[in-house]
Amino acid sequence: MGLRLGDTAPDFEAETSQGPIKFHEYIKDSWAILFSHPDDYTPVCTTELSAVALSSADFKSRGVKLIGLSANDVASHHGWIKDIDALTNGADPLDFPIIADKERKISVLYDMLDYQDATNVDAKGQPFTVRSVFIIDPAQKIRLTLTYPASTGRNFPEILRVIDSLQLGDKYKITTPANWRTPGGTEKVIVHPSVQGEKVKELFGDDVEVVYPYLRFTSDPSKKDKAQ
Ligand code: BEZ
Repeated sequence: MGLRLGDTAPDFEAETSQGPIKFHEYIKDSWAILFSHPDDYTPVCTTELSAVALSSADFKSRGVKLIGLSANDVASHHGWIKDIDALTNGADPLDFPIIADKERKISVLYDMLDYQDATNVDAKGQPFTVRSVFIIDPAQKIRLTLTYPASTGRNFPEILRVIDSLQLGDKYKITTPANWRTPGGTEKVIVHPSVQGEKVKELFGDDVEVVYPYLRFTSDPSKKDKAQ
């Protein structure tokens, strides 16, 4: 059976572009994003890794450690990282490790291999990885899984948006609505369904708009913290 939300992220040891790591030691008590891409020196992957390098400050400011993965060796990663850094004009050198999973041990452990796209294979016909994302919390539990095909580059602002939603929800007993913090969407959040009775006023004061008894909007509580 595949990995599910709430499972402990499996631990592993791996060679990476920044030397050997033990995964749980690497993430320690941070949030982490483990993400795979199909292959080094490929166009969509190159745009993805340079986009992540350019937003590395956004991940750091949220306490998130990044770690990439593909079924290539360390030497290949090092050569390709030079191309990625040249693309971003060295403005934001890629500063997180990329796992060298040539033997596909971690790809199998995390169910990242492509079994539907016969073009996404190496010279021996072995499947490459797809574009998987795992968001892992400081308790090392999996909080999001996402799988994109090789043909489609991911939307990293969306992944940052999910991190914001998870971190806010863990702290304030709220959930976030459709299109939250997107153009045309809303900044308001939703009172968690488990918050009932006197607790509603205790946690959110009078700032609750009841659309239905089960749909109650409130302002982003972190903004009030910042204003104090
Ligand atoms: C790419 O990154 O462009 C790519 C990689 C593997 C298959 C298709 C596209």
